[in-house]
Amino acid sequence: SWTTGNVIDEQVTRIREQIGEGTAICGLSGGVDSAVAAALVQRAIGDRLTCVYVDHGLMRQDESAQIEKAFGESTGGAKLVVVDAEEQFLTALAGVTDPEQKRKIIGREFIRTFEQAQADILRASGVIDAEGHAEAKAFLVQGTLYPDVVESGGGEGAANIKSHHNVGGLPEDLSFELVEPLRTLFKDEVRAVGHELGLPDEIVWRQPFPGPGLGIRIIGEVTKDRLDILRAADAIAREELTAAGLDREIWQCPVVLLAEVRSVGVQGDGRTYGHPVVLRPVTSDDAMTADWAKVPYEVLGRISTRITNEVREINRVTLDVTSKPPGTIEWE
Ligand code: XMP
Repeated sequence: SWTTGNVIDEQVTRIREQIGEGTAICGLSGGVDSAVAAALVQRAIGDRLTCVYVDHGLMRQDESAQIEKAFGESTGGAKLVVVDAEEQFLTALAGVTDPEQKRKIIGREFIRTFEQAQADILRASGVIDAEGHAEAKAFLVQGTLYPDVVESGGGEGAANIKSHHNVGGLPEDLSFELVEPLRTLFKDEVRAVGHELGLPDEIVWRQPFPGPGLGIRIIGEVTKDRLDILRAADAIAREELTAAGLDREIWQCPVVLLAEVRSVGVQGDGRTYGHPVVLRPVTSDDAMTADWAKVPYEVLGRISTRITNEVREINRVTLDVTSKPPGTIEWE
């Protein structure tokens, strides 16, 4: 019968059989799926797994440090490489305003950075030799869930994939075999397994957050200053929604900075000419459709007062009351 304990035991056995004495790498996104997949593999093969977290500088306030700390502590010190790539991403994004262009650039820089980290790990563990040739295959852990498997047409796991050679310095003769310990699980089961493995609630119950991060929540060019403004506003919104006990009711609440829009305001005895932010709280089951969340007026009022008081550059807070469709959840 299905119990979380059985699933863990079964997967740990399968992972050991699949990887043998091999070397595995897992990219952590900060989300629950990659964290649970990594924790399972770590339980199975210990230090032969190295996790990689690429900090692209587009995360929310203190988020990268929290992920590092929470994941490290709860797995009893899984090997984790954190790559600080903020400058690289911001340089690549300079001057770019088109949403799909932003996504493309962030995706490309991500692969490049991740592959460089993989190459370093595989050299250190002898999978890549001194001449830069592959001595063995490597294993790549992914948090693919059952619904993703069904959507992409099923098939058995353990596919082999080639590296994107010449992007991030991986040798052409290297191949990866996928390890997907969550292939038979739904999201609620993944959360149960994560909880059982000792991962903290902030990981297990983390709301969805897009891979491109705050890069697609700044309408206009992404700069360090704008990111800092948005991070401050977003932190306040999250704090107040959490304090009001709304985290599980709300699917997610993007805060969007309209960086190219200014409006006139008044504060103290001075005129201001600042930027608006948009609060986008939604309810949803699967993000395919969504409704705007009926957040109590008092909570909205507190968020608005605090953001305009505490974030100098923002003088107006607005609420998005569009469902999906026709609106998407994100603004870009
Ligand atoms: P939309 O805006 O399309 O978002 O209604 C649906 C869900 O997907 C997330 N999202 C993304 N996730 N990369 C991601 O990993 C992306 O480029 C991306 N765009 C949107 C969004 O946060 C929501 O949960």
